[in-house]
Amino acid sequence: MSQTIAVLKGDGIGPEIMEATLRVLSALDCGLDYEFLDAGLTALDKHGQPMPDETIEAIRRHRIALKGPLMTPVGGGFTSLNVQLRREFDLYANVRPAISFPGTRSRYENIDLIMVRENTEGAYLSDGQSLTDDGETALSSVRVTRKGSERIARYAFELARQRGRQKVTAVHKANIIKTSSGLFLDVAREVAQEYTDIEFQEMIVDNACMQLVMNPHQFDVIVTTNLFGDILSDLCAGLIGGLGLAPGANIGTEAAIFEAVHGSAPDIAGK
Ligand SMILES: NC(=O)c1ccc[n+]([C@@H]2O[C@H](COP(=O)([O-])OP(=O)(O)OC[C@H]3O[C@@H](n4cnc5c(N)ncnc54)[C@H](O)[C@@H]3O)[C@@H](O)[C@H]2O)c1
Repeated sequence: MSQTIAVLKGDGIGPEIMEATLRVLSALDCGLDYEFLDAGLTALDKHGQPMPDETIEAIRRHRIALKGPLMTPVGGGFTSLNVQLRREFDLYANVRPAISFPGTRSRYENIDLIMVRENTEGAYLSDGQSLTDDGETALSSVRVTRKGSERIARYAFELARQRGRQKVTAVHKANIIKTSSGLFLDVAREVAQEYTDIEFQEMIVDNACMQLVMNPHQFDVIVTTNLFGDILSDLCAGLIGGLGLAPGANIGTEAAIFEAVHGSAPDIAGK
């Protein structure tokens, strides 16, 4: 039986990495058919909008998409299309494994960890961003919910169980950001009590950065909030040889979108 998936080639190096990915999938002969859809700068040129309705509808229909990186203008312009997709399909779990590939030049060998990043709330989204008229003060709000924290913590523990992993580390900044990061940590602790077969560890994010560089082998599954996960997962890619080796999955209950961790890499596009 074949399954059709939506394919969005993306911006910058997107079309190049997609071509390589489709060659791999074709060699695996896993019964996939593709519906190619426009998104990003190509879509803006062709349809006047970077995320056409027909692209959204096709993802809704197929429920699985393979997506190249999409460029987001820095400081202004349209809001992130990646965030739009994560919101549209409530893709709450961003799963980013960092696993060493044999024969690849990298700082470490035998890295085998999975970052589970909350994907729908928190400081990364910066809801309600504003700048005062005098340009002196910028504001944004951070919203973390019990529901969001609980489902991501549960996802991490379930993943750990399914994959035979031993430990889940919750990375937070609850010592300083006592409400939003504190709620995430409290809920992670509660969920951990239901998974007594898996070790639970807590770590403050600044220490986690140093520990990842000094002794990355101590980590197994990491669960964290959106912005910390965004930053730490690039760090983890650096442990295994770079962003070109780092896959990511955005998982929701109704759809899943698979992509590289990296962006459109304009500095190497076409090379
Ligand atoms: N999920 C996404 O679609 C996504 C993720 C991150 C950034 N972005 C967007 O991408 C654009 C560029 O961002 P950036 O330059 O900060 O980050 P980037 O991830 O595109 O690139 C960072 C560095 O990693 C290198 N790199 C990236 N992919 C590589 C690959 N496959 N092989 C080898 N090296 C690779 C690049 O050359 C660059 O030096 C921005 O508009 C940003 O918003 C999109």
